[in-house]
Amino acid sequence: MKIGVLKEQSPENRVVITPEIIKVLIGLKVSVLVEKQAGAQATISDEEFSEAGALMASRKEILADADVLLKINPFTEEELASLKENQVLFASFNPYFNTELVKTIAGKKITSFSMELVPRITRAQSMDVLSSMATIAGYKAVLDAAMHLPKFFPMFMSAAGTIKPAKVLILGAGVAGLQAIAIARKLGAVVEVFDVRSAVKEEVKSLGGKFIEVEGAREDAAAGGYAVEQTAEFKQKQAALIDEHARAAHVVICTAQIPGKQAPLLIRKETVARMRNGSVIVDLAASSGGNCELSKNGEIIRSGGVTIIGKSDYPSDMPYDASSMYGKNMLNLLKLMIDDEGNFKLSFEDEIVKGTCLTHQGEVVNERVKSVIK
Ligand code: NAI
Repeated sequence: MKIGVLKEQSPENRVVITPEIIKVLIGLKVSVLVEKQAGAQATISDEEFSEAGALMASRKEILADADVLLKINPFTEEELASLKENQVLFASFNPYFNTELVKTIAGKKITSFSMELVPRITRAQSMDVLSSMATIAGYKAVLDAAMHLPKFFPMFMSAAGTIKPAKVLILGAGVAGLQAIAIARKLGAVVEVFDVRSAVKEEVKSLGGKFIEVEGAREDAAAGGYAVEQTAEFKQKQAALIDEHARAAHVVICTAQIPGKQAPLLIRKETVARMRNGSVIVDLAASSGGNCELSKNGEIIRSGGVTIIGKSDYPSDMPYDASSMYGKNMLNLLKLMIDDEGNFKLSFEDEIVKGTCLTHQGEVVNERVKSVIK
C-alpha cells in the first residue's frame, strides 16, 4: 500500500504526519509519498522526510498513485475531482458542518475517515486528535491572553508595591478548558470555571480552579460524556452568574462547545460592555459561532476597552508539536487498518474503525453524521 501525504493549503501550518511516523509506517511494510514542501511551515524539511524513507513527489503524482491519502483539513473540490473510487481518505472533515462535502464524497463512492469521529473511549485515546489539538488550543489561548493583557498574571511583591494576581474566568472545562486552567494557574492567576457537566467539578478543583455551579443543568448519559443543550430557564440563570463573574475577571477563556451544534452563547454584548477596561476575551469556539456574541472568527477586535480574540486555529500556530501529536494519533488509527503485509484492511467489527468511518460504498456510515445530513 502507498500512503500519500498532501501539503496543506495556507494559512494552515501543520502537516499530517512527521518523519518519525513515516519510519514506523515503513516498518509496517507501507510506502509513503510526501508532497514536496509539505512540512515547510511546520519547520520540517524535505530532506528530513526523505531520510525517514519517504519518496518526495508532486501533488499530481500523489493524487494519482496513493491508495490512502492523508490530510488535516478537508479535501478540496479540486482534489476530490481527480480521485478514484478505491482510494481511501483520512482528514478532519468537520462533517457536522461540511454536509455538502460529505454528500460529494459519498456520491463518489470514496471511503473516507474523519478524525473528529474517533470514539471517545479509552482504547481510542491515543488516536484522539480533538483532545490533542484542544490541549494546544487551551495552552496557547492563555499565553495569547497574557500577551494582550495590560497587567501581570501572577501576584508580584516588589519594592514598587504589591500587584494583585489576574482573575481568569474559564467557560467550559473539556480538554481545552482543563489545559487552560492548568496553564493559567501555573502563571499565577486566580481561576474560576463554569461547566454544565458536574463530572468535571473534581478535575477543576484538583487543578486549582474554583468551580462555579449553576443549579439545574441538563445532563444526558446518552450524549457520551458531552454537554447537551440547556433549558431557557437554566440559560438565564447561567447568563446572570457569568455576567457577574465576567465583570470581575481580567481574562475570559471561552471553550464551551456542543458537538455538531452552534457553540452556546454565554457572553452577551451587554456583559462585554460591563467588563473591565483592558480585559481580554479569547473565544476558542469562534469557528462554531462563538461563546461571546461579539467574537469574529479569525479576528482580534476591540469593544469598548475589551479585546476579543476570536481564534479556533491555535494548533496551526504551534505547527511542529501539533503535527507531531496529530501524526501520532493518525498512526495509531492507521495501525488498525494495516495488515501484516502492509495492505489496507477494513474491518467494521472494530468499533473505532466503524465509528470513525465517514463514507463507504456510497453511504454515510457514521450514525451521528447521517442524522444531520438531509
Ligand atoms: P467539548 O469541546 O465538546 O466542550 C468543551 C466543554 O464545554 C465541555 O466540558 C462541555 O461540557 C462544556 N460546555 C458545553 N456547553 C456549555 C455551557 N452551556 N456552559 C458551560 N460549559 C459548557 O469537550 P471535549 O473537550 O471534547 O470533551 C468532551 C467529553 O469527552 C468530556 O466528557 C471528556 O472527558 C470526554 N473525553 C473523552 C476522551 C476519551 O475517553 N477518549 C478523550 C477526550 C475527552
